[in-house]
Amino acid sequence: MDFVKVEINAGIARVTIDRQSKLNALNGQVLDELEACFLDLKENPEARVIIVTGAGDKSFVAGADISQFPSLSPAEAQAFSVRGQAVFSLIEASLKPVIAAVNGFALGGGCELALACHLRYAAENALFGQPEVKLGVIAGYGGTQRLPRLVGTGHALDLLLSGRMAKADEALSMGLVNAVFPQAELLEKVHEIAGVILAQGSQAQAYTLKAVYEGAGKSMAAGLEIEATAFREVFKTEDRIEGATAFLERRAPEFKNR
Ligand code: COA
Repeated sequence: MDFVKVEINAGIARVTIDRQSKLNALNGQVLDELEACFLDLKENPEARVIIVTGAGDKSFVAGADISQFPSLSPAEAQAFSVRGQAVFSLIEASLKPVIAAVNGFALGGGCELALACHLRYAAENALFGQPEVKLGVIAGYGGTQRLPRLVGTGHALDLLLSGRMAKADEALSMGLVNAVFPQAELLEKVHEIAGVILAQGSQAQAYTLKAVYEGAGKSMAAGLEIEATAFREVFKTEDRIEGATAFLERRAPEFKNR
């Protein structure tokens, strides 16, 4: 792969988008490589928690590649949007926790990529925004849907209508990120968080992700039914026997992840 690098170490896969000359902007090839990478990681038992970041110290992802925009017909624009949405939905649907380590600009498709991850941590220099309106277009990789669901309609429309950038501390205050770290420590801190997640039962995490995302947008009654079904399914795993047994024996669990 030219633009997407994957390193797997002790259960943690780090996916780095590396197209630094364009601030890691997403062209068709980057999207194809991201998709291939997440399809591989889904099947790879060596990867249990996934971190997504951008190469360099300036940008996470500065958006979809704007150089493609001028020639798009309306029908091609729709296909362009659907393609980006599909790749990001694949990431969101991962049953392995996916964490964005936002190391700089997270604009347009970059902010939308972070939104498709399950958790988001930012460096102090990170800047978030949906600047599409400045180009006379709208967010098309899920931003009009995921941003309001995460931060509420008021904060989302503030960013989506103004196109302005929010600094990391503001992103934290609106719930767009989980925490902010000094830039030099971002990856180390995110790896520490990934390590904590890695130590828990991965089957339980997969069912948690399923219940949360399948239940989102449904009625409370429908969501609770999804939860009860997931609760039943997790009781078919070996890990749940080990978890309760270890607690009762006052020892740390040794999950087999099955
Ligand atoms: N698509 C294509 N190329 C992009 C890009 C994008 N989204 N974002 C940055 N680049 C390219 C620039 O064109 C430039 O390429 P060049 O050196 O070949 O001219 C290179 O990346 C560096 O960007 P530059 O604008 O010179 O850096 P900067 O530090 O002055 O500004 C930004 C940084 C992020 C503020 C600015 O690049 C920007 O506004 N980018 C577009 C963000 C955006 O609107 N994203 C949403 C797209 S829908």
